[in-house]
Amino acid sequence: MADGGFPRVRPRRLRTTAAMRRMVAETRVLPEDLILPAFVREGIAEPVPIGSMPGVVQHTRDSLRKAAVEAAEAGVSGFMLFGVPEEKDAVGSQGTDPDGILQRALRDVRAEVGDALVVMSDLCLDEYTDHGHCGVLDAQGRVDNDATLERYAEMARVQADAGAHVLGPSGMMDGQVGYVRAALDAAGHQDVALFAYTAKYTSAFYGPFREAVASSLSGDRKTYQQDPPNGREALRELALDVAEGADMVMVKPGLPYLDVLHAVAERAEVPVGVYQISGEYAMVEAAAERGWVDRERAIVETLTSFKRAGASMILTYWATEAARLLARG
Ligand code: PBG
Repeated sequence: MADGGFPRVRPRRLRTTAAMRRMVAETRVLPEDLILPAFVREGIAEPVPIGSMPGVVQHTRDSLRKAAVEAAEAGVSGFMLFGVPEEKDAVGSQGTDPDGILQRALRDVRAEVGDALVVMSDLCLDEYTDHGHCGVLDAQGRVDNDATLERYAEMARVQADAGAHVLGPSGMMDGQVGYVRAALDAAGHQDVALFAYTAKYTSAFYGPFREAVASSLSGDRKTYQQDPPNGREALRELALDVAEGADMVMVKPGLPYLDVLHAVAERAEVPVGVYQISGEYAMVEAAAERGWVDRERAIVETLTSFKRAGASMILTYWATEAARLLARG
């Protein structure tokens, strides 16, 4: 054997024991890399399970507070809040009502956890509009970019007033980061940061999110979210968002866009996050339920792929559980 001296190089040597593999691991996911997205629904007495996201619920204000405390105790860094109002209308009025469900929940969570978690909120209209679009519509039924910016500015002010540390503009309107930044500064909220959804693609994997926020979308989001074939375009969006004042940038979804995440992470001079979205969560849960994949290994492997691709922050519905898992080693 070993004719001609082969193999001379044996990469398998570094894989021989668990201690060896741990020592040479290039990438580690830590609890503090994780951010937990959560839904709070108005007018419910008990948390409501989301069928397409086993293990995830629409929270009551009370259960949301508990979820925030649990996340903080597990070592998670951030909490991203989505509001589900009882009443939806064409302009998403509940999104700018200081007493809207999201604003109440932000005050609750800040009162509960203070600064122990970075408290963030989704800055978008689709949870609040009856047509389900991320903006307001013009007379032809198209999403009106500039009229929507006005709504985002108002939303940003009420979310910041309610105590959000960070706002996540996720509507993919042109100019949204700069417009919201100016509105916040004018209102004395210079310290509220913007985590821009920089490269956000039209994706089939948002499916379960529609159930989570009780949204029935008429049409699709193809005229404002990015088209899946385009990678270079993400770098253009990155340059614009950073120039407009984004403090952090995000790529979304995660798994189908690891190449985009990597490209953004290589170039960005601000922290880079990734959002492992509802359909990515559902895919693993569904396969695990059938016994087709090992659930915990699959979770940690997907999170590791994001770190390896260059993300330093990961939004995932598994955040609290994964933080506990990772702490156990
Ligand atoms: C927009 C928003 C969406 C998600 C986060 N922010 C929906 C969309 O863009 O269609 C999706 C998150 C997920 O699927 O987990 N408010």
